[in-house]
Amino acid sequence: MNAVEIAAPGTPEVLRLTQRPRPVAGRGEVLVRVSASGVNRPDVLQRLGVYPAPAGASDIPGLEIAGVIESGDEDAMAQAGWRAGDRVCALVAGGGYAEWCVAPVGQCLAVPPRLTDAEAASVPETFFTVWSNVFERGRLQVGETLLVHGGSSGIGVAAIQLAKAHGASVIVTAGTDEKCAACLALGADHAINHRTSDFVVEVQRLTGGRGVDVVLDMVAGPYVARELACLAEDGRLVIIAVQGGTQSELNAGLVLRKRLTVTGSTLRARPVAFKSAIAQALKQTVWPWLQAGRVRPVVHSQFPVFGADGVCGAVTAHQLMESNRHVGKIVLTWGVV
Ligand SMILES: NC(=O)c1ccc[n+]([C@@H]2O[C@H](COP(=O)([O-])OP(=O)(O)OC[C@H]3O[C@@H](n4cnc5c(N)ncnc54)[C@H](OP(=O)(O)O)[C@@H]3O)[C@@H](O)[C@H]2O)c1
Repeated sequence: MNAVEIAAPGTPEVLRLTQRPRPVAGRGEVLVRVSASGVNRPDVLQRLGVYPAPAGASDIPGLEIAGVIESGDEDAMAQAGWRAGDRVCALVAGGGYAEWCVAPVGQCLAVPPRLTDAEAASVPETFFTVWSNVFERGRLQVGETLLVHGGSSGIGVAAIQLAKAHGASVIVTAGTDEKCAACLALGADHAINHRTSDFVVEVQRLTGGRGVDVVLDMVAGPYVARELACLAEDGRLVIIAVQGGTQSELNAGLVLRKRLTVTGSTLRARPVAFKSAIAQALKQTVWPWLQAGRVRPVVHSQFPVFGADGVCGAVTAHQLMESNRHVGKIVLTWGVV
């Protein structure tokens, strides 16, 4: 099969088309004929050599796919209600940038008919991550306020929409006025340009000095001290990335005076059972929102893997992601219906 591999750690140009044996579905797995593969920031980190695939996962990048089930573990498929020919999107621990990919049965979700393949492929990684961190770890309640950094990122556009659909208020930060406007158009209540305003001052102003209940943080480093200052009493800080560095100052006095919780997680290395439980929760709560169009995938760009100019689409996709110009998701397509 055709696949995109990382020739060596480095710039986007190290991504190259290659031939690999088609993977074989093992126990509890299905083989999916991939039509679209989502691109996520962790793929960039993997390409740079700082985020290796977990043990047992494919070295081919790609954490989410959409396509059609070809075959698989028949007992597991029957138990989960899947049949060959079903249109699915799936969260995978690697191997997504390929024409064929195996996925655990429990990590597959039916593609709502209104979504294109590219839209469906853009959903799993960010929706699983937001569900797990904002709603499970962060325990965001109806009527509470969520602060999301990187509001225009793939994670951000999912967090805005899911939190709003849940009945929470949302404040975002983003790096340009255009990105702020895009976040407001997606339903965010307030957007702060973090390059021109101090988000701590703005959050205090917007919440009348009360602060927010949950912060979804993809920056960490110097942000942590400022986020603790943004949190209301009993607030929760959930860290999902450390783009600003791993070392942070923590005012322990604030933690105990406001009874704060500081937590975080990474999704990729978690067990199949954990991810399957998230899939069930998404199916129950979020899929009806997607089906009704209340929540929608935001695909900024899709690139054919076999680029017309002879350049592998994955190279162009990673160049765009590193330019930070995108709002929402970037997707690769394989040219199959
Ligand atoms: N823990 C997990 O399980 C998990 C899972 C998936 C993703 N992630 C992480 O979540 C983050 C978003 O992923 P993605 O795929 O959605 O990436 P993405 O679309 O490329 O977005 C990255 C965002 O980071 C923001 N950013 C970078 N440095 C910043 C800074 N110093 N201050 C404020 N914002 C900053 C950028 O915002 P501006 O350009 O507007 O400043 C940009 O919107 C990544 O760091 C990724 O590694 C974690």
